[in-house]
Amino acid sequence: MTAKNNSTALRTHLCGEMHAEKIGQKVTLCGWVGRRREHGEHLAFLDLRDYSGIVQCVVDNSVDVRSEWVIRVTGTVQARPAGTVNENIPTGKVELADCKIEVLNNAEPPPFPIDQRGDDVDENVRLKYRYLDIRRERMQKNLRLRAAVNSAIRKSMESQGFTEIETPLLMPSTPEGAREFLVPSRNEPGSFYALPQSPQLWKQLLMVAGIDRYYQIAKCLRDEDLRADRQYEFMQLDAEMSFVNKDDVMTMISTAVIAAAKAATGSEPPPIERMTWHEAMNDYGIDKPDLRFAMKLVELTKVFASTEFKAFASAESIKAICVRGADYPLQAASGRNKLDALTERAKKLGAKGLVWIKVADGSVLESPVAKFLSAKEQADLIAQTKATVGDLILIVADQWATTCSVLGQLRNDLGRPPVHEGPYRYVWIVDFPMFVGINPTTNMPQPGHHPFCHPHQEDVDRLETEPLSVRALAYDLVLNGWELGSGSIRIHEPELQRRVFRQLGISDEDADARFGFFLQPFKYGAPPHGGFAFGIDRLVAILAGEDNIREVIAFPKTQSGSDPMTNAPTTVDAAQLKELGIRLLPPAIK
Ligand code: AMO
Ligand code: AMP
Repeated sequence: MTAKNNSTALRTHLCGEMHAEKIGQKVTLCGWVGRRREHGEHLAFLDLRDYSGIVQCVVDNSVDVRSEWVIRVTGTVQARPAGTVNENIPTGKVELADCKIEVLNNAEPPPFPIDQRGDDVDENVRLKYRYLDIRRERMQKNLRLRAAVNSAIRKSMESQGFTEIETPLLMPSTPEGAREFLVPSRNEPGSFYALPQSPQLWKQLLMVAGIDRYYQIAKCLRDEDLRADRQYEFMQLDAEMSFVNKDDVMTMISTAVIAAAKAATGSEPPPIERMTWHEAMNDYGIDKPDLRFAMKLVELTKVFASTEFKAFASAESIKAICVRGADYPLQAASGRNKLDALTERAKKLGAKGLVWIKVADGSVLESPVAKFLSAKEQADLIAQTKATVGDLILIVADQWATTCSVLGQLRNDLGRPPVHEGPYRYVWIVDFPMFVGINPTTNMPQPGHHPFCHPHQEDVDRLETEPLSVRALAYDLVLNGWELGSGSIRIHEPELQRRVFRQLGISDEDADARFGFFLQPFKYGAPPHGGFAFGIDRLVAILAGEDNIREVIAFPKTQSGSDPMTNAPTTVDAAQLKELGIRLLPPAIK
């Protein structure tokens, strides 16, 4: 504990402050009753717990206090007798003797033990009794680590000249990509507010307004399917800057992320790497590569340029991953059932098939398709993949994007450790494509990010003629295979913004009707600007050693979007609905 004063009207110290230098002092502590151990005929040991730790109290065994009762203990700190020191807890050298106990409140037996990590407690039960779940050491540690991260981010942003500004939660619906939560208006029945997916529009308007450097630790809401890295409500460090290029933004964000990581772990993470989106896709088959393990995609298109093997002939892109027998006990992956399962998985991911080749003794290739490959192709395959005995080579032949993404997924399936396991590998991915394909129904390009990203200066001329070749000045930050955040330089020229909207099938009239409030201000002198946002829940989860963001959120929703403690979402009464001008449809028949 630091020198801060923890004494209050009810206590003199915290449990965690009970160290050897306090021996001989009379103290009063408050907290919850933890474990109790009977000791001989007359005495018992009670663990007293507050957020700072636990301390052992020696009490008369007639004292009637039970698990999780709230008590106040006055006693004298004494050294534990030789042989009873507990090296596993920070207060293990001392105990409180001559204890006088006052019961502040009693408690029903808790539905799960508070003194254990609780991995085996059903998550619904944990969330139903979240106030008890948070009483446990794991959640205490996680929430305090989160606060330390927030504090380090604030300090870093402020020292870099950013001003914190709060933006509205009630706003019009915007085209950012995710499904929005809507809030009915009582004053204008039939009209709705949307809750912000992010403060994107507001922060750009703040740049027009001359704020220069804005930041906010902002609550964002998206009605998406929930997963380990997704909640309906989550927090972003949201930032925007004027008169910058992408390197300026990336440098400032890197500074804040490194400060946060240092505050959480006590050590500086390795420098943040950088690669282009094309490199990430080509080498790792994914735009959020996990660099903690190798198994890079190996280029084989040339090796099979004139192959007789039908499945490979005339494919645009042929690549492989080589699963090292030594690193990933081949093992597992190489039984026939496993190989069939891998082929099925590849097909589900969009491949036409999957060739597997085992490297047996003497560089003999074991595979149903080995007989179709020439001796030279086999030798080149071994040379390119650097495969050795015991390795398993998995090959996909398809369009470049499919080959990369299927192998990228298989690579993750086979090699990826849990997200929180070290070492921390941060990487910036730059030069994302502006559009990610053509929407088959509208025949229009599909946006890669929100439609306010600035195209690469060199590519602007190709916006209408070759939209899929246009790169965006957009960049993502990735940590251990999770997307931590993303950002871009924005369009500040109204005409360019219209050209991008038109590419997306949004006419000038539509754009004015839907986003006029956003486009109009850009006529009044918008500075060049750019920004970024990263997910605080994701960063904190990884730094806290958790692989689900629910573990670092005080009151999260379950995977199905409900809250077992409050039962939200709940129905509301008819009068409330009437006031909002809402009539419900009958429940859908399942
Ligand atoms: P983006 O949509 O990529 O960018 O979001 C930025 C980061 O927010 C986090 N995040 C989430 N975290 C938990 N649950 C969710 N449902 C969720 N959705 C997103 C992720 C993600 O990387 N306005 C732009 C940023 C910008 O361009 O400045 C934006 O919101 O960590
Ligand atoms: P087929 O000629 O379709 O019977 O396929 C022969 C083998 O090649 C099977 O193991 C398929 O899974 C595999 N295969 C087929 N098409 C592809 C492809 N595009 N890429 C990789 N493997 C393929």
